[in-house]
Amino acid sequence: MDLLILGIESSCDETGVALVRSAGGAVPALLAHALHSQVAMHRDYGGVVPELASRDHIRHVLPLMTQVLRESGESLSNVDVLAYTRGPGLAGALLVGAGVACALGAALDRPVLGVHHLEGHLLSPFLSAAPPEFPFVALLVSGGHTQLMRVDGVGRYGLLGETIDDAAGEAFDKCAKLMGLSYPGGPALSRLAEHGSATAFKLPRPMLHSGDLDFSFAGLKTAVLTQARKLGDSLEAHKADLAASTEAAIADVLVSKTLAALGQTGIGRVVVAGGVGANRRLRSQLDAACAERGLRVHYPELHLCTDNGAMIALAAAMRLQAGQQEASRDYAFDVRPR
Ligand code: KG4
Ligand code: ZN
Repeated sequence: MDLLILGIESSCDETGVALVRSAGGAVPALLAHALHSQVAMHRDYGGVVPELASRDHIRHVLPLMTQVLRESGESLSNVDVLAYTRGPGLAGALLVGAGVACALGAALDRPVLGVHHLEGHLLSPFLSAAPPEFPFVALLVSGGHTQLMRVDGVGRYGLLGETIDDAAGEAFDKCAKLMGLSYPGGPALSRLAEHGSATAFKLPRPMLHSGDLDFSFAGLKTAVLTQARKLGDSLEAHKADLAASTEAAIADVLVSKTLAALGQTGIGRVVVAGGVGANRRLRSQLDAACAERGLRVHYPELHLCTDNGAMIALAAAMRLQAGQQEASRDYAFDVRPR
């Protein structure tokens, strides 16, 4: 079945809108996508302010939709399904995307589909030039989640391991904050790390030898704080080294556990998704380790690593294609913040 799907992402601090065409069993095609980042707005507060996020989504979602329709040459009346992020995320922010999708659905008499944000990330590498094949292991590393999953098909996901405290992105962000870097900390810390030595400071690799596929990053944050306090006034001079050492500690754990997951499942393919998947050190370490072992690694395109509407439209398209879920004309929209 040929379907034109409009996807809306508004779970946190990016407003994303995209149009995807799904035809038969082929990988859905991305026709256009547009994104508005709120990063600059939240920077002054050192983190996302939920109320400001919701208001900003309201300001941008319809203009972004107009832009996507114009760029794709499609008209709103041709849209068959409206997809939105149902959760997890900030409740008020999610309600904007859900409200707009359901209102448009009701007005156009088209069905709507709520998508799990993480499923969007998980499937996002299908929009790359060399999409993965099932089954694969997924390393899902975002600001709120760190999970290893076994993926046997659309909607067929098994949790292999996850963080018992902070997420990897959260660890990046918190350590960056301790070093006085601006929000969002992950990319800032990573940029600084390029000028530092990854072996300058000896930082812990929590749960590296725990024997399971779970993660823990809270101890690393404490170790970085202790180190920063020890450095005192000389922190500034050693900041790049501390950033590089922190980044290496996080990457080492992520790579090591991912290899263990591939070993345990006997699967030869891994997909990395979520904002931390944009991290260069993680990519190069994982690429090298997998190349050595004859394993394949798939990433979403760099600009689709962080939150975006394309992955939401794509996940909806793939769910519908797989017959896993039906779009509905129940416009009493619901969101699942957690
Ligand atoms: O997937 P995402 O955009 O939003 C969530 O669903 O959480 O991920 C955001 C997270 C933030 O913690 C951010 O600091 C981190 O991804 N991040 C990075 C990089 N780019 C984004 N962390 C390390 N290195 C990067 N280059
Ligand atoms: Zn995300």
